[in-house]
Amino acid sequence: MTSTSINPLREGRSGRKPAEPCSIVVLGATGDLTGRKLIPALFNLFLDGHLPARFVIVGFARRPKSDAEFREDLYKDLCEFSRVKPRSREEAEEFLAHVHYQQGNLDCSADFDGLRGRLESLEAERSLPANRLFYFAIAPEFFETVISLLQGAGLSQPANPDRAWTRMIIEKPFGEDLASARELNRKVQSVFDESQVYRIDHYLGKETVQNLLAFRFANSIFEPLWSSRYIDHVQITMGEEVGMPGRRGQYFDKAGILRDVVQNHVLQLLCLTAMEPPASLDADSLRDEKVRVLRAIRTMSVEEVAESVVRGQYGAGSLRGKECLAYRAENQIEPDSVTETYVAWRLEVKNWRWAGVPFLLRAGKRLPKRATEIAVIFKHPPHQVFDIAPEFRLPNTLALRIQPDEGIAITFSAKQPGLLMNLQPVQMDFRYGTSFGSQSPEAYERLLLDGIVGDGSLFTRGDEVEEAWRLCTAILDGWKAMPRPTDFPNYDAGSWGPTAADRLTADLASGWRKL
Ligand code: BG6
Repeated sequence: MTSTSINPLREGRSGRKPAEPCSIVVLGATGDLTGRKLIPALFNLFLDGHLPARFVIVGFARRPKSDAEFREDLYKDLCEFSRVKPRSREEAEEFLAHVHYQQGNLDCSADFDGLRGRLESLEAERSLPANRLFYFAIAPEFFETVISLLQGAGLSQPANPDRAWTRMIIEKPFGEDLASARELNRKVQSVFDESQVYRIDHYLGKETVQNLLAFRFANSIFEPLWSSRYIDHVQITMGEEVGMPGRRGQYFDKAGILRDVVQNHVLQLLCLTAMEPPASLDADSLRDEKVRVLRAIRTMSVEEVAESVVRGQYGAGSLRGKECLAYRAENQIEPDSVTETYVAWRLEVKNWRWAGVPFLLRAGKRLPKRATEIAVIFKHPPHQVFDIAPEFRLPNTLALRIQPDEGIAITFSAKQPGLLMNLQPVQMDFRYGTSFGSQSPEAYERLLLDGIVGDGSLFTRGDEVEEAWRLCTAILDGWKAMPRPTDFPNYDAGSWGPTAADRLTADLASGWRKL
């Protein structure tokens, strides 16, 4: 198999839209995300020649800092976090010469006027058009204020829309339930046109997630099987080994895993698995189909939540031979917290294609392994002519490994060599690493570049986010209406979650997959 540098999914024959000269403004420039992800991603785009010849990056944050000090900090970040590290100080300097720092408070209108002045003078100095991309790498409590202040400073719309553009990339969490997401959408859309808004879900930037589209819609062999006629059920797992590193607990204890990863990453994987073929890959066709999937899932009552959703919280345990603290003993976690660190959810996509096919979603912290996977489990043949021992009677399975060990495996039955007709499950396995060799770009590289060139297909739309919240809010409301869980912690760190989750798979051809 050969690989090319062109991504046929996005670029077609004519190549990707060129990146126009622009200013990238990172709001929250001294935070973790900027140093670990955004600046390294921009540096890699720069190295690979994807950034325009003329561009500036302006970091905006509270702490006083000179351009030189900011560049020095970012140099260290590049050496530590970049996918491709700088080969020399000079190489990094070449990139960092485009970077500037503007001190300002997120709630001070004069500071946004200052930002505007700085942008205008940089644009004049560097002969840049007023193309501006604002990246909201800030705490969600500032989202609305910053939107107002950008508007107040005249930064939310280009002065001359025929000659320049303004866009904003907004990080998750986009709301904390349906009401707040609606409110935030209202605010965003009162200032920006939806076409200016790029709601980021970094899972959509992952190569393997994009490959789901290629796998499903660029091949003809699987699509005819992709329905309730042949599929028994689908399992989507997002397992993580990490617990609550650093100050992570401060956010997580208020959020829980349902809000943190299910409302966004896991439901996105579900949408891409279950959606109908879009008419084209443009942003709206793709997002229309994803929204249709979400709309086909019913809002659950409290009773349905109790029946279809299992939550858990990890206790002390061990992972890869290392002792792990219980969630409640982690940094910044309330000692009697009932925040869920695990959730399993069985749902149905109620449409023609999927009627009667259970979708099982699960996500957890401190599971034995970091593994994100979509597994499609097929029905057994209608009539079995072979006398297969029960332990070998496994259904055909298609496993799309999102990460790590990215690839796709098909399990099927084969005859064991010998004089007897003995069957055994075997695997055909495609591995990204072996087939394509080269290192994939980081999700943030893809998504930042898409923001710069104005391609919204890998970002979520306002209605899509609200639909996802509709489903998750029903779960949150259900939990609120139930008594506080008294069995937490109900799984050991390093195990596959609470045994209570097994009841969700009790009637299926196979239980939860052992990854
Ligand atoms: C983030 C969540 O969105 O995704 C984290 O807030 C989670 O809790 C992370 O650990 C997982 O991302 P990845 O790319 O490491 O799978």
